[in-house]
Amino acid sequence: MEASGSDGRQSITFPLLRGQKALVTGANSGIGKATAIGLGQVGADVVVNYVAGKDAAEEVVREIEDLGVHAYAHEADVSKEDQVVDMVARMVEEFGTIDVMVANAGLQRDAPISDMTLDQWHKVLDVNLSGQFLCAREAAKEFLRRGVVPEVSRSAGKIICMSSVHQIIPWSGHVNYAASKGGVEMLMATLAQELGPHRIRVNAVAPGAIRTPINRSAWDTPEAEAALLRLIPYQRVGDPVDIANAVAVLASDLLDYVVGTTVYVDGGMTLFPGFATGG
Ligand code: BGC
Repeated sequence: MEASGSDGRQSITFPLLRGQKALVTGANSGIGKATAIGLGQVGADVVVNYVAGKDAAEEVVREIEDLGVHAYAHEADVSKEDQVVDMVARMVEEFGTIDVMVANAGLQRDAPISDMTLDQWHKVLDVNLSGQFLCAREAAKEFLRRGVVPEVSRSAGKIICMSSVHQIIPWSGHVNYAASKGGVEMLMATLAQELGPHRIRVNAVAPGAIRTPINRSAWDTPEAEAALLRLIPYQRVGDPVDIANAVAVLASDLLDYVVGTTVYVDGGMTLFPGFATGG
């Protein structure tokens, strides 16, 4: 895409991410899968990371290749330093570089505080927070090495951290998860400040309740869905594509001046819907 700059007019060329190389972690299901396909739809070549579930990852690769762009699946546990280093090194070898890192992989291990084990705490922090740190670090190294390539993008690279409404909404029974997402917010903001001068954009997307396997019990019966909708002013449960769309636009030069921000994609869940009638 081209953007003219000072006169305020832009000539936009679609697809938005044509010629860019994206890596999406946790891309064989849920939000990651939709995001990987969505980035392919707007022209990016995509690495589909997964930790388990090779067949599902290969299926996502096929769907992306059907769009006329390149893709391959790469198994790696984002909480393991050597595996993340190898994953990004292979991408640079196969695709030449990386333009967009979507640090999406995440999980829940829920328990009330008195029952929560240190293993449950560590597992969630390791994947959701340390995993994002490792992915951001490896992407940043390549962005810094390569710098801006104006024909490709106005920025030297984009890091998009998948956060959650629970980066600001406390969540009883999920202290490990909420703490990890609160950490993601500060990871994102600090890296945005640190890397901005190098024309690297770091931002987060914070989904609300999205229909995926991670929260199936919250929407898969009419009673559960009705209870969930009480928390969503917009009165629908989100779909993975709602998040994919936000990531695609945020990664593109259309939002080149968006730096260090969290885009909430939550149907208004962060608007304290309890106060619609109370208070
Ligand atoms: C969690 C889901 C939850 C949603 C809204 C997400 O970050 O992973 O389990 O339904 O937040 O509470």
